[in-house]
Amino acid sequence: MIEQEHLPRHIAIIMDGNGRWAAKRALPRVFGHRTGVQRVRDIVEACCDLGVEFLTLYAFSAENWQRPAMEIADLMGLLEEFIRREVDELHANRVRLNVIGRLSDLPSRIQEQLRDAITLTRHHTRLCLNLALSYGGRQELVDAVRSIARLVSQGSQSPELIDENTIARHLYTAGQPDPDLLIRTSGELRLSNFLLWQISYSELYVTPTLWPDFGRAEFEQAILEYQRRDRRFGRSQSPAVPSAPPPDAS
Ligand code: FPP
Repeated sequence: MIEQEHLPRHIAIIMDGNGRWAAKRALPRVFGHRTGVQRVRDIVEACCDLGVEFLTLYAFSAENWQRPAMEIADLMGLLEEFIRREVDELHANRVRLNVIGRLSDLPSRIQEQLRDAITLTRHHTRLCLNLALSYGGRQELVDAVRSIARLVSQGSQSPELIDENTIARHLYTAGQPDPDLLIRTSGELRLSNFLLWQISYSELYVTPTLWPDFGRAEFEQAILEYQRRDRRFGRSQSPAVPSAPPPDAS
């Protein structure tokens, strides 16, 4: 049973394996991506039901622009369809839609649709759904450094006072907790330039299941496994475990 009091506040997912799922069925890759969108819907719904506060999905990486033009067009088409079909439901379910990544790289029509959806849902607090689009962890750090450097050159930020919080405040995820749990489907053991700063202490769950087959049951399984982990954040004891009382001086 999932324990409500130890629920991960933020779950991030590298949704991998759509192409292999399609290839196994001798179908074009787009069928894998299309089925993958259905899983996006299922996982968003599961987060709403369970009470997860932040869900970050790696939907299109900065490196994905190097894929064949046809596949990029298919993915952009699916994204547009997703926004058109799902935004009203997200709004009705009090889900806030947010984008992390270089939004300006996307086709202008999609940028407009995303901006409208972000504005429409901006006050919702049940779940924040971060779609990582044209996202790269290194690019995010470059953007953060540029924006801090601008403040330094204007004289409004002292270089000596730059600390981890300053950097976190300039990331696309500013104001959000770091992911507690990072899920990667399809078995690859790599981070693929995803949330490099934010996942320093995330628990990892890697499954051989391909994303189009990753349903709610396995999502709950991943949360259960997370709840069995001992998160120590580099300490010798989990911060949840109270430290031993000082020896009685009397
Ligand atoms: C990786 O599978 C998946 C992607 C590059 C895109 C993920 C996109 C979706 C699930 C659909 C779009 C999402 C939204 C929210 C509209 P892959 O193609 O790398 O698979 P492979 O490694 O098996 O080839």
